[in-house]
Amino acid sequence: ISLRPYNTFGIDAKAAFFTEVRSQAELQEVLKLPEYRSIPKLILGGGSNLLFTQDFDGLVIKINIKGIQKIAENNTYVYLKAGAGVVWHDLVMYCIENNYAGLENLSLIPGTVGAAPMQNIGAYGVEIKETFESLEAVHIETGDVRIFSHNECMFGYRESIFKKELKGQYIITSVTFRVNKVAQFNVSYGAIQDTLKQMNVAELNLRAVSDAVIHIRRSKLPDPKEIGNAGSFFKNPEIPKQQYEELQAKYPAAPGYVTSPDTVKVPAGWLIEQAGWKGKIVGKAGVHKNQALVLVNYGGAHGNEIKALAEQVQQSVLEKFGIALHAEVNFI
Ligand code: EPU
Repeated sequence: ISLRPYNTFGIDAKAAFFTEVRSQAELQEVLKLPEYRSIPKLILGGGSNLLFTQDFDGLVIKINIKGIQKIAENNTYVYLKAGAGVVWHDLVMYCIENNYAGLENLSLIPGTVGAAPMQNIGAYGVEIKETFESLEAVHIETGDVRIFSHNECMFGYRESIFKKELKGQYIITSVTFRVNKVAQFNVSYGAIQDTLKQMNVAELNLRAVSDAVIHIRRSKLPDPKEIGNAGSFFKNPEIPKQQYEELQAKYPAAPGYVTSPDTVKVPAGWLIEQAGWKGKIVGKAGVHKNQALVLVNYGGAHGNEIKALAEQVQQSVLEKFGIALHAEVNFI
């Protein structure tokens, strides 16, 4: 089966076996089947953060567990449990319609609820770790269900325990969020403020913030339905403060956000643009013209073509700035 419809890069890789599960119980059954026991498995959500560089000689399990349930509430919070297969943006819209706050800055992020904690998705000053309560996951070998608390997930910038120590071991089946009854807006991001002004928003509200985010994303990020891509291809590198000061001495305009007393995060998009890559097309692949952090498939590119372009970009940023870029996208 071709995996092309199942990855937003639109890469035409093939899977030896493919199945879709609609519940945790169905997933446990599939994991028990003797024919699948000892073959490699790949768990798919929205397929929006991966790059196939070859065919997958194993079983692809597409998680299609749906449903959003309010499981508890108090004066301050509402606890929402969402199936791993719920489309992320659908959950955000559900929250906005019900006036639950906390996810509005994360509007329009591609992918599913189950994939969100894997890399602690974030945008416009908010990460899901801020509203995350707990998750349920199934062990890929034993089929046992385990609940992970916030602490156990070890969230970091685009990181969690599921990308590190427990990589490949658990399949997330649902996530519980603690959303707020009273909004505490985070509009510190300059682009959001500018957009809200343009929209003539008099009083902040969830819908307006969400609309502003949607507007910004649409203006910068290519729609995977039109041009294959997986959002930011690289993470923004964190560099020692001293190295940042040296960078600024050479390039006074170099942007940076202080992340700790000794570290500064530099936008990879800026580094890539300065290295001359923005808008470049190499064969069927390219660097997006509006956001240099996004690599794109202009149609029919092989995963290795994108990978080769990524390596060239890494190489030239390293040569020009002495800064190593690390992929945010997972290579399969
Ligand atoms: N910039 C450039 N040229 C570019 C792109 C960016 O110079 O082509 C510089 C500008 O100085 C700009 C700054 O980089 O002000 C920041 O750019 P942007 O606001 O587009 O954000 P980003 O740092 O490039 C990160 C996330 C995005 C998220 C945005 C908004 C990562 C790896 N990416 O990008 O997340 O939407 O912030 O908060 O942290 C994703 O993870 O897939 C993703 C899209």
